[in-house]
Amino acid sequence: MFVNYFSHIIAYLLLIRTIGASPGAVYPRAPQPWTNFNDNPVFYPGQGYTSWRTLYARTLQLPDESILLSWEDYDNTVNEPYFPIYRSTDGGATFSNYSRVHDQVNGWGLAYQPFLYYVDSAFGGYEAGTILIAGASVPRNLSHAWIDLYASTDSGESWDFVSHIVYGPGPETVTNGNQAVWEPFLEIFKGQMVCHYSTQVDPAHAQKLSHKTSSDLVNWSEEVDDVAQPNYGDRPGMTTVAHIESTGKYIMTFEYCGGPITSGCPVYYKVADSPLEFGNVDPTPIVSNDSSKIIPNGSPYVIWTPHPDRSDGSGLIIANGNSAEQVFVNEDSADANGWKAVDVGQWSAYSRSLRIIQHDGQKKLLIANGGNIGCSGSCYNYVADGVVDIPT
Ligand SMILES: *[C@@H]1O[C@H](CO)[C@@H](O)[C@H](O)[C@H]1NC(C)=O
Ligand SMILES: *[C@@H]1O[C@H](CO)[C@@H](O)[C@H](O)[C@H]1NC(C)=O
Ligand SMILES: *[C@@H]1O[C@H](CO)[C@@H](O)[C@H](O)[C@H]1NC(C)=O
Ligand SMILES: *[C@@H]1O[C@H](CO)[C@@H](O)[C@H](O)[C@H]1NC(C)=O
Repeated sequence: MFVNYFSHIIAYLLLIRTIGASPGAVYPRAPQPWTNFNDNPVFYPGQGYTSWRTLYARTLQLPDESILLSWEDYDNTVNEPYFPIYRSTDGGATFSNYSRVHDQVNGWGLAYQPFLYYVDSAFGGYEAGTILIAGASVPRNLSHAWIDLYASTDSGESWDFVSHIVYGPGPETVTNGNQAVWEPFLEIFKGQMVCHYSTQVDPAHAQKLSHKTSSDLVNWSEEVDDVAQPNYGDRPGMTTVAHIESTGKYIMTFEYCGGPITSGCPVYYKVADSPLEFGNVDPTPIVSNDSSKIIPNGSPYVIWTPHPDRSDGSGLIIANGNSAEQVFVNEDSADANGWKAVDVGQWSAYSRSLRIIQHDGQKKLLIANGGNIGCSGSCYNYVADGVVDIPT
């Protein structure tokens, strides 16, 4: 994780324009169900919320087309933080409070970086339709952390602890040398659940990106590195992964602080034959292929989708980063000169998430914003979403 002051200032200016200086003011009217819209506020935290109030929005669409939404939630009215689960049945136009994922084992709460995953065929003793959420459980004093896994077998109404995935002896801060763990990302690959994450535990790397696998969601493998740069001070972070179905390959995006592009934490990517083999691939930066040569900076997200206008099985890779409102669209080859910046009309955010949703057989891009790191006090984060046609 890193702090992007530039984009949080932009987000704040946009916030003032939208809802006035005080979030208690008049809320914009909700969009029509299952339409396209942008910058749609769906959850306002209370004034007393601590830290950044909200951050890191994550979504999931279920087969009944409902959409679940979670985020880092700095609720000041509880002893232990939890991951809120909000639910929309109108294509993200409105969300209502659905459930909460509480820490059931550590007594610390669930604080950072929730990630939602839908299990579409029976896995590790769990039936098809199980929903998983992984995230960091951290005591208030940040003295150490677990990335933990919870499951829901009732479409997100209730949640049970499944397993500890990876431990950070602490403290859980971004200071080099502090043994923190962050940012889980799950996917099933060939009968294995893969959990990618960022870790500061290895003394040879200020931070590196690694994964563990499990065939039962309980017993996790040894750590395997995805991005571990030789220079100690480099801080690759925030893995997201997509399967390029037409080629069978996998793409990961990550922010690369301290890398060859020395300013900020530019977004880089790797393409490999499997999500277990990124470690052997050299990182390439995302640079838009127009004359403006935009380099998105920080907290990326990547997805793949079949191309909306083709029937040959080819698709599009869609990525984004914190500093740019645009998404970056590429052909399945992920050519370094193929990243086309496309305006989607939606504020940037810290780890703005992307997801393809369906309604009546039509696919759209759902974008979810949880706000920005560094925004607190009179700067007011909240959760907003947007739905647009798949950008091509
Ligand atoms: C949201 O739902 C949870 C449990 O379902 C409940 O504990 C909580 O009080 C609700 N929050 C609000 C603001 O109504
Ligand atoms: C931090 O909090 C944990 C959990 O509440 C507690 O066990 C531990 O003693 C605390 N550590 C320090 C250094 O205060
Ligand atoms: C856990 O998995 C490892 C391999 O990943 C295996 O060697 C070990 O036997 C497993 N332990 C249990 C209790 O299943
Ligand atoms: C940018 O990449 C796209 C493919 O994603 C390609 O269609 C387009 O021609 C490229 N633009 C330039 C200026 O090279």
